[in-house]
Amino acid sequence: MKLSGRLLAISENVTRGKGLADIGTDHGKLPVYLVLKGAIPFAVASDNRPASLNKACELVKTCGLGDKIDLRLGSGLDVLSPGEVPQIVIAGMGGPLIVEIINSAQARAAEKLILQPMQYSEYLSRWLYDNKFDIMDEDLVEDGGRIYRMFVCHAGQPEQARDEIFYEVGEKLIQKRHPLLGEYVIQLMGKYRYIYANNTDAGARVKLKDKINKLEGILNEYKGTDDI
Ligand SMILES: C[S@@+](CC[C@H](N)C(=O)[O-])C[C@H]1O[C@@H](n2cnc3c(N)ncnc32)[C@H](O)[C@@H]1O
Repeated sequence: MKLSGRLLAISENVTRGKGLADIGTDHGKLPVYLVLKGAIPFAVASDNRPASLNKACELVKTCGLGDKIDLRLGSGLDVLSPGEVPQIVIAGMGGPLIVEIINSAQARAAEKLILQPMQYSEYLSRWLYDNKFDIMDEDLVEDGGRIYRMFVCHAGQPEQARDEIFYEVGEKLIQKRHPLLGEYVIQLMGKYRYIYANNTDAGARVKLKDKINKLEGILNEYKGTDDI
């Protein structure tokens, strides 16, 4: 079974040998791939829409994994009993919806959360810092012409972000000189330059300009160290 680049990158961040819950599984490909590979012993695959869960159900049946993948209909982490799985994946949703789902004791109890927002990743990043989730790792993955962010985190005592800009471009990405960082920052700058050009509110323009300057700074630093 072949996964998209985005799902493959998520699968690579899963801890081998431990159970997993895939919340909002839809097609169910991620847990099926991981169990088929023998990477994890079992999974809970859940979705709040019957039509989505049926897709996952078909795939699980076709692959003969009914005894290893438990399919559950329900919202967010309500489908799990306390401490049932050590790691939880929530992928392919917007940042605010992911926040709604992880704003729970269940999420705080998990050893590892792998979160992959499709949009508003900075909203999720800020929330993780504000709510004392430690971002252990951050990744970028390119898939179908888009770059997606991914967070690996758990409840803890994180350091505060040094500047608001690091909600947009994670410090972990800068520290490890992620190969997609330059391209990602250029895309972000393009987005904020467009918003800046079309915004007439003076206060908003000052903030946008500041953001663009900081992104330029990160890009120059990144390019500068590239030349060494
Ligand atoms: C775009 S799909 C992502 C599928 C898969 N996780 C991926 O990354 O490819 C989003 C799925 O999340 C489900 N979903 C949305 N809100 C949810 C919630 N509160 N609890 C569980 N599933 C939810 C939707 O029904 C949908 O199937």
